[in-house]
Amino acid sequence: MEKREQLYEGKAKKVYKTDDPELLIVSYKDDATAFNGEKKGTIVGKGVINNRVTNHLMQKLEKAGIPTHFVKELSDTDTVVKKVSIVPLEVIIRNISAGSFAKRYGVEEGIVFDQPTIEFSYKNDDLGDPLINSYHALALKLATPEEIETIKKYAFQVNDLLKSFMKEIGIDLVDFKLEFGRLTDGTIVLADEISPDTCRLWDEKTHEKLDKDRFRRDLGGVEDAYHEVMRRLMGE
Ligand code: TMP
Ligand code: ASP
Repeated sequence: MEKREQLYEGKAKKVYKTDDPELLIVSYKDDATAFNGEKKGTIVGKGVINNRVTNHLMQKLEKAGIPTHFVKELSDTDTVVKKVSIVPLEVIIRNISAGSFAKRYGVEEGIVFDQPTIEFSYKNDDLGDPLINSYHALALKLATPEEIETIKKYAFQVNDLLKSFMKEIGIDLVDFKLEFGRLTDGTIVLADEISPDTCRLWDEKTHEKLDKDRFRRDLGGVEDAYHEVMRRLMGE
């Protein structure tokens, strides 16, 4: 399978057509941004790590019954995925207070919730991905009521699974962002990536941050943290 015309370049990935109209190739970059692209940088080796970590987790989720866009890893940075039309919602699940939750509600980071929370952001860079509720998503015709129900169900199932995969390697899953897409026949599948760019991952003992917050907050040791997550997950 080979890359054809470039369809799209995002902040962290490029997407290419292939000879098969139902398949695309995603190519992960080392570019890192934060705060809607205001902060820019490079995390050396991130493309390889996020590609490999995402594919490892997507395959584990698929085995556990979550439909995903994953087809085949092509190289260290490139993966064949099913073509989807992305539902323009960022689906955020939280288990522990951190980030925008802590800021918005004026609480410290690290409060363990009795139950996970779910929230949606409208995926729109011009508007800065504003927080919206499911009624707003319906009003904006971003998804149907059935699609929103399916997305919520999968998101909480993914949380249970990811939490246990991370616990096995000594990591607390604080929060994460998912994106879903529609296949040509309308089936909802998990898409995009699951990586230290899109999750908050804290070492369960030291509470050391092993995710993109090291870049966002200039904490140093960014590459080492990404590498540590891949090593614990995949043994390399
Ligand atoms: P937040 O606390 O900034 O709202 O982030 C919640 C989670 O979503 C966190 O794990 C990081 C992830 N995230 C993304 O993947 N992309 C984004 O653009 C943002 C803002 C957060
Ligand atoms: N990826 C997002 C951006 O570039 C934000 C983030 O992950 O913090 O703005």
